[in-house]
Amino acid sequence: MDELTEKIIEAADDVIDRDLKYICDRAKPELMKMAGKKLLIVGGAGFLGYYFIQSVLNWNADKYKKQKIELTVIDNFSRGFPDFISELKKNKKLKVFEHDITEPFPKHLGDFQFVIHAASIASPIFYRLNPIETMDANVTGLRRLLDYCLGQKDKENKVEGLLFFSTSEIYGDPQKEFIPTSENYRGNVSCTGPRACYDESKRFGETLCVNFANQYGLPIKVARPFNNYGPGLKISDRRVLPDFARNIISGEDIIMLSDGTPSRTFCYISDAIIGYFKILINGRHGEAYNIGVEEPEISMLELAKRLSLISKELFGYNGKVITKKSEDIEYLTDNPNRRCPIINKARRELGYNPEIELNEGLRRSLIWYKANHQAINA
Ligand SMILES: NC(=O)c1ccc[n+]([C@@H]2O[C@H](COP(=O)([O-])OP(=O)(O)OC[C@H]3O[C@@H](n4cnc5c(N)ncnc54)[C@H](O)[C@@H]3O)[C@@H](O)[C@H]2O)c1
Repeated sequence: MDELTEKIIEAADDVIDRDLKYICDRAKPELMKMAGKKLLIVGGAGFLGYYFIQSVLNWNADKYKKQKIELTVIDNFSRGFPDFISELKKNKKLKVFEHDITEPFPKHLGDFQFVIHAASIASPIFYRLNPIETMDANVTGLRRLLDYCLGQKDKENKVEGLLFFSTSEIYGDPQKEFIPTSENYRGNVSCTGPRACYDESKRFGETLCVNFANQYGLPIKVARPFNNYGPGLKISDRRVLPDFARNIISGEDIIMLSDGTPSRTFCYISDAIIGYFKILINGRHGEAYNIGVEEPEISMLELAKRLSLISKELFGYNGKVITKKSEDIEYLTDNPNRRCPIINKARRELGYNPEIELNEGLRRSLIWYKANHQAINA
């Protein structure tokens, strides 16, 4: 390994270490509430799982903590078996099982007090290739978990919190007076378009959650993430940021597959994970919370320019931004023009307070992508 590669790997390790410390510091009260209890993460081999799992293991690694969080991960590995899971499996404290959540709940795994349902392909390219599986994970898979929660209701080791991952996509393409968007907005969503398998199954998933919470008094909570990004998001995942990063790391020009005008706010993964732990522990039953950042809302062209500038500083990148038409004719169908959250509810009720600035998050992400070349072919 040459000196430069060594330095990049070291820098990427620093990014992760710093992020895990940040999460464990800021989500300390929530992690403490899970100490000595069992947490199940479903869909833990994905992007959010990468930080969820490592945060919990990082928390458990502190030798002064007497009570660990007992972590179990299940995933059907439909998006591949990531290296980080192989690495962490060597650590005997992490139990990982291959299981499809649409199948009956694996009761032999024991009683869980906390459950995170993050099992649903999140990349539009891949969920459109697997629409039935996507709907099943968000409806049947969720139902399995809700039924499990209900079945445990009167037991000593009952479920104390179940977090369902919905999405900001449930808002569809909001009319401009509803941007920025609060949880009260009801959405402008196609029920038959190419993205409907995702958007509509998340919407129905939320309806299931609210009704299980209300009818049975269960501690079910919902997160609506707005464009999370950062280390762990596979470079081959075909979301916009890893697409641009792949161009940069390969030394190519950045390829824009839209006219560059659609805009988003981007929330760095460590801030988002803190928000999710807060919802899981302190969110009101049957309530949904936007998790993201309010600003800056930037166009895809602006995102490409920022990445290009930061990569120039980091690795001397000197590519341009070029526009191409996607070979996928549905690539932009029903793609929302703008996406920007109001996060007052999570701030007020949960103390959620994202702080990582966009350029800093992009810098950390690029360092991680540079160090994780294997992710290019994942
Ligand atoms: N990352 C974001 O910005 C974002 C935004 C909105 C919503 N979400 C939601 O958050 C959750 C996690 O997102 P992510 O970015 O980690 O997604 P991801 O696509 O990276 O990971 C999803 C994981 O779920 C697993 N999975 C899919 N179907 C399954 C099934 N039936 N049984 C078991 N495992 C299954 C996949 O193998 C994969 O490991 C998803 O529900 C997603 O819809 C994420």
